[in-house]
Amino acid sequence: MASSTFLLRRLPLCAQTGRLSRSSYPAFTTLQQSRSRTHIRPSASLYSTHAATDLDQTNKPYYITTPIFYVNAVPHIGHLHSAVLADTFKRFHEMKGRKAILSTGTDEHGLKIQQAAAQAGMKEIELCDKVSKRFQDLFDAANISYTTYIRTTEPRHAVAVKKIWDDLLERGYIYKGHHEGWYSVSDEAFYPSTHVEEKINEKTGEKYHIAIETGKEVEWTTEENYKFKLSAFTNKLTEWLDNNPEAILPKSRHLEVQGWLKSGLSDLSVSRPRSRLTWGIPIPGDDSHVMYVWMDALTNYLTVTGYPWKDMSDSQKAVCGWPADAQVVGKDILRFHAVYWPAFLMAADIAVPKKIVAHAHWTQGKMKMSKSIGNVVDPFTAMEEFGTDTIRFYLMNDGGLVDDADYSSELVAGRYKKLLAGQLGNLLNRSTSVALNPSNKVPQQPSADNVHPDDKALHEKLEALPGLVDEAMANYRTTHATQAIFDMIAEANANFTHCEPWNLVKDPASHDRLQTVLWYAMESTRLATLLLQPIMPTKTAEILDRLDIRKDERSWEHASLGQGWVKDPESRRILPGAPMFPQVKARK
Ligand code: MSP
Repeated sequence: MASSTFLLRRLPLCAQTGRLSRSSYPAFTTLQQSRSRTHIRPSASLYSTHAATDLDQTNKPYYITTPIFYVNAVPHIGHLHSAVLADTFKRFHEMKGRKAILSTGTDEHGLKIQQAAAQAGMKEIELCDKVSKRFQDLFDAANISYTTYIRTTEPRHAVAVKKIWDDLLERGYIYKGHHEGWYSVSDEAFYPSTHVEEKINEKTGEKYHIAIETGKEVEWTTEENYKFKLSAFTNKLTEWLDNNPEAILPKSRHLEVQGWLKSGLSDLSVSRPRSRLTWGIPIPGDDSHVMYVWMDALTNYLTVTGYPWKDMSDSQKAVCGWPADAQVVGKDILRFHAVYWPAFLMAADIAVPKKIVAHAHWTQGKMKMSKSIGNVVDPFTAMEEFGTDTIRFYLMNDGGLVDDADYSSELVAGRYKKLLAGQLGNLLNRSTSVALNPSNKVPQQPSADNVHPDDKALHEKLEALPGLVDEAMANYRTTHATQAIFDMIAEANANFTHCEPWNLVKDPASHDRLQTVLWYAMESTRLATLLLQPIMPTKTAEILDRLDIRKDERSWEHASLGQGWVKDPESRRILPGAPMFPQVKARK
């Protein structure tokens, strides 16, 4: 077997992003097995890869990120939402023929983790190993096709963090100063006094302070630390957002960030004295300070691309993925991603991400999920109960960018029953009915020039659907995409009922009309299923197999009316089978 040193030499510099050809994959796996805590997977595209025009020009893969998750507590459904959202877009771009990178992982340093480990009576790294594995298990179970799973305790990440620090220092953006102010361990954030409110503990009468934005307790800190000249970037950030009105989605968040900038920015503390924080990356050249966890954590997005990109040309860097095409974040961490992060990048003369997609939150019982309230939804249990794809669908169908959504098992069961089983499953059963189509062949495609009046509305919906989905996905609105798809399916079912094929089949004179009715049902199922692939990768593959749609007929170019069963349609056989969405009952 080749030695790992040999393999390391053969890999491209940014291979750690998972930007690997299929042939290099086995070798890379071997390398990974020999390195203890680095987790990288190749991009396992489900779709054929037809190079998109922009890819031909730049060779840059689509790079999308999830936030990296704190390891102080096990994952809940809100965390899974961030990951499914990013995965859906990664798969969508692959479906369109573009290579794609999806990074996710865990945020393992900082006071929050240090305290959680102490509380659990564990060494910090033991806690990190345990909880990071739980997140990775979740993402594997949820079919998140990440290409890199990064942990901020990995050595390669320390290299990237040191480099960005050195660059900022050299460029004069970091200075040593005195800091007095409020700090929230839970948010790992500093707050100015104007963002803090005094409260009184009703039981003890003691006063305490909270951050108005998050409701989390803050403590007064006075310390010497390193500061980043954030104030110097107010204008540059404003210019960036003014010139790129879609840099932050949704629009309301873009406006919110512009509003923050209007009131000006204060410099940001980017280190904590070691006397307070030990669990983190030491400040290069000054062991008495530890890096502020957000500066450490945000840099993960560069680490994944092989930063510091030593000795690489611009085109080689582009192949590694940066700048990110989209960074998915929850609305609670927008300030870190839309203000601090681009400012760090500008200071280091690195391109800013192309888009930041901020999603709203999941609540339960209309309240923020929290361990202390006991309303946290366990994603493993939810997927066990309803199936992975049902949960993925529910999150993407009901969880939006703008408004918070309230999680409810009854609603998951309701969506399953009404939409997946009642609409999509029903249409599939109708399309594959042996009673109506005993030959199991694909019916003759009717002429598009002479559409039967009964089929007109459906025909138009089928024609419009890819455009609607494309637009929804360009705006990162999965809820709009599923709405358009299920709107079409509802029309297809209604038309099927209206045309009464069970009567047509009894009359040989209606043979042609029956074929047309069946073709529309099958085509509607095919098109809807193709477009749902990024959201429900497993179920859709099963459905497409049943419809005898070949693996190389599942990409975007086939996702339009009449583009199925193109090659030798005569040979295709539609497979009947057990219901794809059998009955489930929600647990109480
Ligand atoms: N570690 C930071 C992120 C650093 S990124 C450089 C962090 N971690 S987190 O574990 O607290 O949150 C990770 C993601 O989960 C965030 O996008 C957050 O918004 C999301 N969610 C946490 N609770 C959520 C809900 N209840 N609903 C939806 N998403 C939520 O922040």
